[in-house]
Amino acid sequence: MHRRRYCACVLCAVAAAVAYFVLFAGAPVASAADGPVSFIRDVAPVFQENCLACHDAKKKAGKYDMTTFEKLLAGGANGEPLVPGKPEESELHGLIVSTEQRRMPPRDKGEAVPKDKAAVVARWIKEGAKLDAGIDPKADLVKELRVRWTPPTPPEAYRFPAVVNALAFTPDGKFLVAGGHHELTVWDAAAGKLVKRVRTRAERAYGMVFLPDGKLVVAGGRPGQEGDVRVYDLSAKGKAENGVEVLDGVADPKVLVKHLLDVEDSVLCVAASADGKLLAAGGCDRAVRVWDLSGGIAAAKLDQTVENHADWILGVAVSADGKYLVTAGRDKTAKVWDLKAKESVVTFPEHQAIVYGVAAPAGDTIFSVGADKQLRTWKPGGEGKQVKSEGGHADDVFKVVAHPKQPVLATSSADKAVRLWKSEPLQAGKKLEGLTDYAYAVAFSPDGELVAGGGYDGQVVVWKVADGAVVKAFNASPGYTPKK
Ligand code: HEC
Repeated sequence: MHRRRYCACVLCAVAAAVAYFVLFAGAPVASAADGPVSFIRDVAPVFQENCLACHDAKKKAGKYDMTTFEKLLAGGANGEPLVPGKPEESELHGLIVSTEQRRMPPRDKGEAVPKDKAAVVARWIKEGAKLDAGIDPKADLVKELRVRWTPPTPPEAYRFPAVVNALAFTPDGKFLVAGGHHELTVWDAAAGKLVKRVRTRAERAYGMVFLPDGKLVVAGGRPGQEGDVRVYDLSAKGKAENGVEVLDGVADPKVLVKHLLDVEDSVLCVAASADGKLLAAGGCDRAVRVWDLSGGIAAAKLDQTVENHADWILGVAVSADGKYLVTAGRDKTAKVWDLKAKESVVTFPEHQAIVYGVAAPAGDTIFSVGADKQLRTWKPGGEGKQVKSEGGHADDVFKVVAHPKQPVLATSSADKAVRLWKSEPLQAGKKLEGLTDYAYAVAFSPDGELVAGGGYDGQVVVWKVADGAVVKAFNASPGYTPKK
């Protein structure tokens, strides 16, 4: 049951990420055993993890805002919570280690701060409760932490499978790019062999799209921490490591060619118009950013920020004529936005459940899928009226993508299947089998000959569109041996 819904899966993902960190990255770097405690390195992360959920600028529980050093010192309703040099007289420390009813976090709301972390806070107060040199006391601490955070190096061999949230064929159709753990992995689609690893700041890639010039746009993030949209050139030179080319998409400007967006939570989807002149990405902050790429990716301009949904944006598409932005929301609606007039055109309410994905292959027809297990088609000018709805999947449908040449669609679902459909008129086609867990990702090859699906357990299957035959099945987790 714990993986019933995508949103729950994102929570799972957080747990998995923590497990991953413990297992792969070893002990956290900042053991403050020797040398003075650093506020930003050792203390601020403890507050971020244990306190900021309630003491952020919005909630300010007890009128106490802990988002900047200055405010942290000023305290809340009870006044200054810190007495530099004296942890035992500091309310803040007392509340963390308290065995009484009134503790922080409040007993009924969360676990106590781990003893070793509380001891670090105590030492910091004892040493004078100082801020590190060079940091503005008015600076947003979450932002300061984010700037300082560096992504871990992905393990040479995965002990756990990578969750494949996104897949894309390279423009030549020969390779498949999958999202890994702090990296993108590139596989020979016919042989299932790893050929490249591209390190990324993002822990996960949630959406990918190749632009006409061959550059890859990736939307991703670290759940609950940060989200980004970055553009990579996978043809840049890397270094050979154990027969695989490794590219540095974190720091090498030849690989990471453009950094379009940084936000405070994951970016979950990205799409480009057919001519590659418009790019749109949306996610947990409920906004869709639309960039004008008509001057090329180097001169990308943010054209508009569309806030049209009441919850996360899970899917996005730009209509083939570049007129409309189509979005899928956790708020149980799909919507159309007129990109020129900059106004909402229509809301499609029929799913009555989370809408995960949208496609808009022809200018005037939209397809959407959701937790209602249905593939539905409707029109931007149809006032939200449905044209047709088709079932077939036995569980939530996560993605719908359009064939590059034929009136054919592919969907992927929690029922572990990828399905093909005729799009005009909408009609169920083949069920493609071979995946072994939730199928989050599905993609057609640019020539339309192949379709690939991937999902929760890292398994990827490539099928022939013509007859549904399996071309190759492999696990897109470098060095990982699936348990039987
Ligand atoms: C689940 C929500 C929650 C979390 C998490 C939480 N607090 Fe609180 N905090 C409160 C509430 C509610 C109050 C006001 C009631 C009270 O003072 O007992 C409060 C009050 C306080 C106060 C007193 C402020 C004043 O001047 O009245 C301090 C200091 C404080 N919290 C520190 C912390 C620290 C440090 C952490 C993290 C280790 C933390 N809190 C985590 C909810 C929370």
